[in-house]
Amino acid sequence: MKINHSLIDISDIDLAQWNKLYYLACDIEENPQKYAQACRGKIMASMFFEPSTRTQSSFQAAMLRLGGSVIGFSGTGGTSVQKGENFQDTVYIMSQYSDLITIRHPQDGAALAASEICDIPVINAGDGRHLHPTQSLTDLMTITRLKGNIENLNIAICGDLLYGRAVHTLLFALSKFKHNKIYLISTAKLRVPQYVKDIVIQSGNTLIECESLEEYMSEFDVLYMTRIQRERFDSQEEYLAQSGIYVLTAEKLKKAKSDMIILHPLPKVDEIEYAVDSDPRAKYFAQAKYGMYIRMALILSMLNGDFISHFPKPQSGKACNNPHCISCNEKHLPALSKFKASKEFCVYCDCEK
Ligand code: CP
Repeated sequence: MKINHSLIDISDIDLAQWNKLYYLACDIEENPQKYAQACRGKIMASMFFEPSTRTQSSFQAAMLRLGGSVIGFSGTGGTSVQKGENFQDTVYIMSQYSDLITIRHPQDGAALAASEICDIPVINAGDGRHLHPTQSLTDLMTITRLKGNIENLNIAICGDLLYGRAVHTLLFALSKFKHNKIYLISTAKLRVPQYVKDIVIQSGNTLIECESLEEYMSEFDVLYMTRIQRERFDSQEEYLAQSGIYVLTAEKLKKAKSDMIILHPLPKVDEIEYAVDSDPRAKYFAQAKYGMYIRMALILSMLNGDFISHFPKPQSGKACNNPHCISCNEKHLPALSKFKASKEFCVYCDCEK
């Protein structure tokens, strides 16, 4: 295993590292003044190749609240990417100006690629259809803060479970915990991929797949709604066939426990009726704020050298066939593989080769 100071995949950190981040985030939330100059003199590069409101702004607010500074871009419109500069050069140059990189990119594996290009810590702020580890840190913090722990809970996840990077990463994160019952609610077309389910099943948590949002509503402690993501479908027809199927309404919530919490990574579009926002069980706006505190804890830990993740050492391998993988689109990136049970997987996007 390679020891690293970047956060690319939630699976690369252990429970001890999670607990350290969580308690630090809680202390930051309770004692913000204690940390107001903790990153003074440090610079975070914010490289957002894809749209974002929460992740980008909460990272920036996190760094500013720690007394540090932020450089970077939001969309490539004002950058030399428009003149044809490649990904490698863009990342390398930004790493020369900063102490830490946060990166969001539409291609799977972009954050891992960035961490291989430069020598400073890289945080994956969402890479294509692949992973969104700081959203999962946000989700774990919210559940722990509001429910006390992540054990013996009935957790439902509803919506786009096929393309949702926040969903897959959350399922990997929940696999670190025990004795939870996880309900996966989606249409047949948008089910969680088998390799993600396998990891949850191996963790000893219970999985229930169903197509109805109402069927088990009375059992849920946590209901995690997600958006049907127009940008991840290959055609508008495929998107329209899936949108509008799951809508959480005040009426449906009548069957839910009085202390159930409703989460959503946001943005929400039409999957939660407006009236639900004022239900005291709706915690998605609080969740977005917890995201800032856990990102403060992450930035501070990384810049102090207290953050450690582990991932398989990349080896040379076959070219990746996933058209959404950064290694297929940035031809200068080396083809890198990891091997599990004599199968070869792409290091960037985790697809089998
Ligand atoms: N949850 C999330 O990633 O939101 P943004 O796309 O606004 O960053």
